[in-house]
Amino acid sequence: MAEQRPIISIEDVSKVYGFGDATTVALDEVSLDINKGEFIAVMGPSGSGKTTLMNIIGMLDRPSHGIYKLNGRDVSRQKRNKQAKTRRDNIGYIFQSFNLLPRLTALENVALPLAYKRVPQTRRLKAAARALDQVGLSDKEYNLPTQLSGGQLQRVAIARALVNGPSIIIADEPTGNLDSTSARVVMELLSEIHKLGNTVLMVTHNPSLTRYADRILYMLDGSIVYDEASAVGEMPTRVQRAVQALRTSDDDEKLASVSAMMETMPEPKSSDDEDKGKKKKRRKSARKKRGKKAKK
Ligand SMILES: Nc1ncnc2c1ncn2[C@@H]1O[C@H](COP(=O)(O)OP(=O)(O)OP(=O)(O)O)[C@@H](O)[C@H]1O
Ligand SMILES: [Mg+2]
Repeated sequence: MAEQRPIISIEDVSKVYGFGDATTVALDEVSLDINKGEFIAVMGPSGSGKTTLMNIIGMLDRPSHGIYKLNGRDVSRQKRNKQAKTRRDNIGYIFQSFNLLPRLTALENVALPLAYKRVPQTRRLKAAARALDQVGLSDKEYNLPTQLSGGQLQRVAIARALVNGPSIIIADEPTGNLDSTSARVVMELLSEIHKLGNTVLMVTHNPSLTRYADRILYMLDGSIVYDEASAVGEMPTRVQRAVQALRTSDDDEKLASVSAMMETMPEPKSSDDEDKGKKKKRRKSARKKRGKKAKK
């Protein structure tokens, strides 16, 4: 069971890219509490802000507005050096494209995060060897990335994410570039990491992978429109039905149809658009008010 103290707490976090007329609101005042030990799957169409949210939680990016508390401490205003340290100590990040350095062996890639921590080399390599063993790749220590399969590359990347002993693992479409067999191996690994007591956040476009998670978030246009934990959302019934179907079914055809349904959500409705316009206006005026308050 997850403990009831949020390890991650974000409050009214926005991310705005660009300037003037060419701005994109990638995240629109998102608030979210995540408890220690949860396994969260984040879904939503392309461009809905999933990666932006993961990058902020993973401290690879800073919010434009809002507060981010990690373990109860406000990290959004920490200096960059301090933030880098907080990130190294707490967070392991896994990318869709693996992001391994091509000239380093698997072992050296895994040991790399420890070099930034100034751990002596022998200890670094020992820790890296242990992490590679944990993902079942002890026999590939000296292989270069070009000498590994996609699934193996992602396992090396997982070992690299684990080598610092972080308590939070963030995986942005970790199986997006993998065939189904390798994807299953990666998911089983993430599941094991979760069972060891770690908090896992995973972005996925594949609804069938949400069965590994104990909480599903659905994003749209920079907002979390559905959160399984609070059962609050603008269209919970449809999503909930989809989620239930996914949890209980092994039927590939059914999964595919649910998947298609989730991709097309929500149904376009003119009244919805109107509401959304009003909501945006309300948010804008609330922001203005806050801005004025801050200036005072
Ligand atoms: N560095 C950037 N500069 C400008 N706009 C950006 C930047 N990064 C993201 N965006 C925009 O922010 C929005 C959210 O992008 P994000 O990458 O978070 O989407 P996503 O949900 O991860 O999509 P996908 O499923 O395709 O990975 C998009 O409209 C995107 O174009
Ligand atoms: Mg993305």
